[in-house]
Amino acid sequence: MSINKLNCAITSVAGWVPENKLTNKDLTKLVDTSDEWITTRTGIKERRILRDRDKATAYMSSKAIRRLLLKSKTKPEEIDLIICATVTPDMLFPSTASIIIEEVGAQNAFGFDLSAACSGFLFALKTGASYIESGSCKKVIVVGSDKMSSIVDYSDRKTCVIFGDGAGAVLLEPIKEKFGIIDSILKVDGSGKEYLKQIAGGSLKPASKETVSSKEHYIYQDGKTVFKFAVSKMADVAAQIMEKNKLKASDVSWLVPHQANLRIIDATARRMGLSSEKIMINIQKYGNTTAATIPLCLWDWEKKLKKGDNIILAAFGGGFTWGSIYIKWAYNSK
Ligand code: UT7
Repeated sequence: MSINKLNCAITSVAGWVPENKLTNKDLTKLVDTSDEWITTRTGIKERRILRDRDKATAYMSSKAIRRLLLKSKTKPEEIDLIICATVTPDMLFPSTASIIIEEVGAQNAFGFDLSAACSGFLFALKTGASYIESGSCKKVIVVGSDKMSSIVDYSDRKTCVIFGDGAGAVLLEPIKEKFGIIDSILKVDGSGKEYLKQIAGGSLKPASKETVSSKEHYIYQDGKTVFKFAVSKMADVAAQIMEKNKLKASDVSWLVPHQANLRIIDATARRMGLSSEKIMINIQKYGNTTAATIPLCLWDWEKKLKKGDNIILAAFGGGFTWGSIYIKWAYNSK
């Protein structure tokens, strides 16, 4: 008896970002920096910040998911599973996914959070796709969402210029044709934990007066080391997935890269042999929104995507985690 694996496709995309902008000029009032430094070193011009103290990752995720449900004409009760990729959960527990499920009224869904930092959306997409491919779920939502401003030290110029807040969500469904999520390569190297982390607040170093005064609840990043790994690993894995699937540069319609630094994105595209018009870049307006960058790009570019487009997603982030997913886009936007 042969078991036919089902195909899983992204069938709709939506995003949500807060209205409040934090520009490079605004940052020059907080730290010793300049628009010129930030623009040339990162490509970022502004980022969105969720100012409301009583709103966080679940709120942004729910906003994106409500848009997704509306445009795909899906009822919340039809959703089987919601996976939330985030490193800024509302609380350590319950999961942000549980809060989202309640907020959007997905009363028949189960859900969980997935922690893989900037690669979180890719890891969650592969996980969600597996539930569809196995036949155990019919409608899965994967949301990448981070309120990075909640863990950024706005007196540290090395990190505060980089990050922003936002959420992006996709709907996954089974399809008959051989379109959708075709292949993936996902990687972890735990030795990276020294270079990009939030030291306190977990079970190893619970919150105390000392951890707060030493600012250990903020992001710590050794930018230079992370940059070096990101440039080589993200470019390697994107080239590897092309090779594995016998894709030439001319076969690739779009690169959807994690938006951490324009120089990392350029290095990846060069390695793949892609020209600039095939790269989705919105880092200038949102900065690095961690798990949200890739779905926010898909949301911004959705109207340009055509059925059959070969799309390569690629990311690198804390852990270290990195990876690439090859998608054959499954629909033409209306
Ligand atoms: O998304 C998760 C993964 N994260 C990443 O992929 C981020 C990877 N890293 C990077 O993108 C870059 O390393 C940064 C954007 C974080 C930093 O850029 P860089 O070109 O690596 O700068 P650097 O850390 O080597 O610093 C160069 C100089 C230093 O001054 P000195 O020591 O040469 O006097 C820094 O103090 O730039 C200084 N600097 C700044 N100057 C003005 C650092 N941040 C700033 C700033 N404004 N905001």
